[in-house]
Amino acid sequence: MEVTRIEPQRIGDSRGGLLIVEAHKNVPFDIKRVYCIHGLNNMSRGFHAHKELKQVMICLSGSCRVVLDSGLSRKEIIMNWKSDGIFIDKMIWREMHDFSNDCVLMILASDWYRESDYIRAYEEFIVIVNEKITSEMTA
Ligand code: TYD
Repeated sequence: MEVTRIEPQRIGDSRGGLLIVEAHKNVPFDIKRVYCIHGLNNMSRGFHAHKELKQVMICLSGSCRVVLDSGLSRKEIIMNWKSDGIFIDKMIWREMHDFSNDCVLMILASDWYRESDYIRAYEEFIVIVNEKITSEMTA
């Protein structure tokens, strides 16, 4: 699967740096929610997909390994402060592993939190992916 990288704007001078992301400039949706994952103790997280939600993930500190899975193929990305952000489209299974203690992930989301948008069982995710493929083939 292809991973779309999001390049934040970075500006720096003798006082320090700025990292900037703007809706419809380097983030391909209206940003309705921002949350951060922090204070990690190296327990893996994620293990879900979203039916509609789109997200951009940016590592603000430390490092982690992100697994993205379309149901047909998987990709692993090591993220740290220097790496670009990643765009995570709807219907992509994600797992985050190998967090450093100082890891901070910022997530920009296209919608407010809605538990009904989550697919939290991998088997259910695969069933929905296969249903979509079948309906596209018969359309
Ligand atoms: P979850 O999405 O399972 O965490 P992660 O994907 O990082 O492993 O979220 C953990 C809990 O927090 C879960 O009960 C849902 C809740 N939550 C909210 O209430 N609002 C939010 O915006 C998010 C992301 C999670």
